[in-house]
Amino acid sequence: MKISKGRLSFVLIAMMLVAFSFAACGTGLQEPSDEERPNSTSEPAEPVALKPQEIENSISLEDAFRQRRSSRRFTNVPIELEKIGKLMMAVQGEGSDVISGATRPVASAGATHPLQIYVVAGEVEDLTAGVYQYDLTTEVLIQVAEGDIREKLAQASLGQNVIADAPVTVVIAAAKQRTTQRYGERGIRYVYMESGGAAQHIALQSTALGLGNVIIGAFEDEEVQNLMQIEESPLLLIPVGYLAE
Ligand SMILES: Cc1cc2nc3c(=O)[nH]c(=O)nc-3n(C[C@H](O)[C@H](O)[C@H](O)COP(=O)(O)O)c2cc1C
Repeated sequence: MKISKGRLSFVLIAMMLVAFSFAACGTGLQEPSDEERPNSTSEPAEPVALKPQEIENSISLEDAFRQRRSSRRFTNVPIELEKIGKLMMAVQGEGSDVISGATRPVASAGATHPLQIYVVAGEVEDLTAGVYQYDLTTEVLIQVAEGDIREKLAQASLGQNVIADAPVTVVIAAAKQRTTQRYGERGIRYVYMESGGAAQHIALQSTALGLGNVIIGAFEDEEVQNLMQIEESPLLLIPVGYLAE
C-alpha cells in the first residue's frame, strides 16, 4: 500500500505525542501521590481529646503575676498532655460556644473571635510530633501537619534556638478578616490587641503550671505559615517547657 508523504508525517507526529505522554507519566511530570508529598497526612490522624484536666494550679493568680518572666532555656522533659489542655483552656475556654463566644477567657472586639490557636508539638506525652489545631468546641487537637518542625520553625524565627529546644510552641494565629469585615482597617489593630491578651493568658497559665515560656514576635510570617501548613496569619509564637537549671 502506498502512503502519501503528508499522511506519513501525520502518523509519525501522532506516535511521538503518544510516546511523550507515556514518558511524562514515568518522569515525575504528573502530580505527586499523597505518599510522595512531604508532610502530607494521607490518613487523617484521630483528633486527640484534651479533657479531663485533673491538674490543679498550685499558685494564685497574683503569684503568677509575680513569677512570670521570659525564659529561653528549657530541658527536654516532655510536657504532659493535660498541661497542654490547661494552656488551651486558659486561652480559649472550656467548650466555649462558638456563636456567642460568651464563655471565652480572652475578650474580643465585637465578639468577632479572629484567633486560632495551634500547638507545635515536639516532646509531649501521648502526642505524636506535629502541628495541631485546637478545636475549642470539642476540646480536641486536630493534626494539620506531621513531623517535628521545631528546628525549621527556629530557623524561620531568626534562628531563635529556644524554639528548637522547647518541647512545645503554642502559636497564636488569626483570621483577620473575621474582625476587619466588621471594623474595616481598624479591625487589624483589634486583632493585634487580642493576640496580646491571648499570649498573656498562655504566659500566666504556663507560670502557674510550673512551665517556663517566652512570647516571640520576631519571625518570617510566610515561612512560619508554610511550615505549619495553616491558612491563618501567625502572630505570636510561645515556646513552653520545663526550665533548665
Ligand atoms: C510582642 C513581643 C514580642 C517579643 N518578641 C521576642 C522575641 O522575638 N524573642 C525573644 O527572645 N523575646 C521576645 N519578647 C520578650 C521580651 O524580650 C521580654 O518580654 C522582655 O525582655 C522583658 O522581659 P520579661 O518578659 O522577662 O519581663 C517579646 C515580647 C513581646 C511582648
